[in-house]
Amino acid sequence: MKFFVDTANLSQIKEANDLGVLDGVTTNPSLMAKEGIKGRDNIMAHYKAICDLVDGDISAEVIATDFNGMISEGKELAKIDDKIVVKVPMIKDGVMALKWFSSNGIKTNCTLIFSAGQAILAAKAGATYMSPFIGRIDDMSWDGMELIGQIAHIYGTQGYETEILAASIRNPLHIVKAAEMGADVCTCPLSSILGLLYHPLTDIGLANFLADHEKVNR
Ligand code: E4P
Repeated sequence: MKFFVDTANLSQIKEANDLGVLDGVTTNPSLMAKEGIKGRDNIMAHYKAICDLVDGDISAEVIATDFNGMISEGKELAKIDDKIVVKVPMIKDGVMALKWFSSNGIKTNCTLIFSAGQAILAAKAGATYMSPFIGRIDDMSWDGMELIGQIAHIYGTQGYETEILAASIRNPLHIVKAAEMGADVCTCPLSSILGLLYHPLTDIGLANFLADHEKVNR
């Protein structure tokens, strides 16, 4: 399973990248706004800065919600760097745009997926990735992971090539479960990636090893 970091914060992206296990980055308009990035030129420059930091796919979301607007915005975004993946919402014009982008060699990430039906449409339209939002489903007391399993089963049975990108990850257990359920990619906050590191027995074991070494080497 590939690891993407889900943020527009350059220092967090750098920290995740320095760990050596990062395969890409996802952003969305809320994450860009959180970093105070506004205005077309600043937004484009920020995406370029992310591309320069990370060797992997970088999702950049369109703001337009009509077909023509998504195509012209997506073409502009794709010109920034070969790493750019145009992120398109799961709406009717979005499906049409996904088909256009896939027919024209532009990588896509279909976002805001909440059902298996939407996942089928995204695959049929040739999306490179599609993003089921696990945490937001869990927030409604449904099981987001069940959806990942259902989509993995359907994609396996049908031979769809679109990659399942588990999104809206809230904690390290979500990452483990997404891997178990067959997600191809998991996009996570840096805190959830770092959360995978921690186990108290690792800390106790390391402290004991170092203490034993110290006893005979002081
Ligand atoms: C993924 O591409 C989305 O940007 C993101 O995972 C949404 O997460 P949230 O539900 O925590 O906002």
